[in-house]
Amino acid sequence: MKILMLVGSLRAGSWTGELVATVPGLLPEGVRAEVYAGLGDLPHYDQDLDGDAAPASVLAFREALGGADALVVATPEYNGSIPGVLKNAIDWASRPRGAAPIDGLPAAVLSVSPSPRGAQWAREDLVKVLRVAGAQPLDDALGVATVHETVVDGAITDADVEAALRLLVGRLVDAGRERVAA
Ligand SMILES: Cc1cc2nc3c(=O)[nH]c(=O)nc-3n(C[C@H](O)[C@H](O)[C@H](O)COP(=O)(O)O)c2cc1C
Repeated sequence: MKILMLVGSLRAGSWTGELVATVPGLLPEGVRAEVYAGLGDLPHYDQDLDGDAAPASVLAFREALGGADALVVATPEYNGSIPGVLKNAIDWASRPRGAAPIDGLPAAVLSVSPSPRGAQWAREDLVKVLRVAGAQPLDDALGVATVHETVVDGAITDADVEAALRLLVGRLVDAGRERVAA
């Protein structure tokens, strides 16, 4: 089983990326997870580009989604919502209608912030957008607050956060396996 992980921050040293990097260590044997590194290469969504000859970066992204059984989608909060790069990627993933590569994919949603609110608005928006795009976000999204204290040197320092992430990832694996079996 394969999990594709989408990170809504492009910057080197992203806290969102740091948290996502802990996910593979929480997975059972036989489940692989990798970050999709090409979100920044996608052009702005344009229906005129989205025909038979869609850009190579879009085709590569859609192929990666097609090979995934589940998604981890992690977002920081930019001005009260999700960053444009993530919304743009989801828009590309949501087409072509009726055969969209995101359709039916279970998704674990993570929101991350150095603030105490844990990027709640971004989390809520991400769940909504994924659902409208055709993915199946799990019921309990996880918000990680004061991330600079919670993820240190690549490890989660807060036992409650680690337990919540482990639980969420476990439920994602269950949902992905159900999809594989169906
Ligand atoms: C354009 C911009 C808008 C931001 N807006 C918010 C916000 O609305 N809420 C929030 O908690 N943090 C906000 N921040 C701060 C981010 O949470 C912080 O920069 C965080 O480290 C970004 O995630 P990253 O570390 O994964 O890149 C904003 C940052 C930027 C650059």
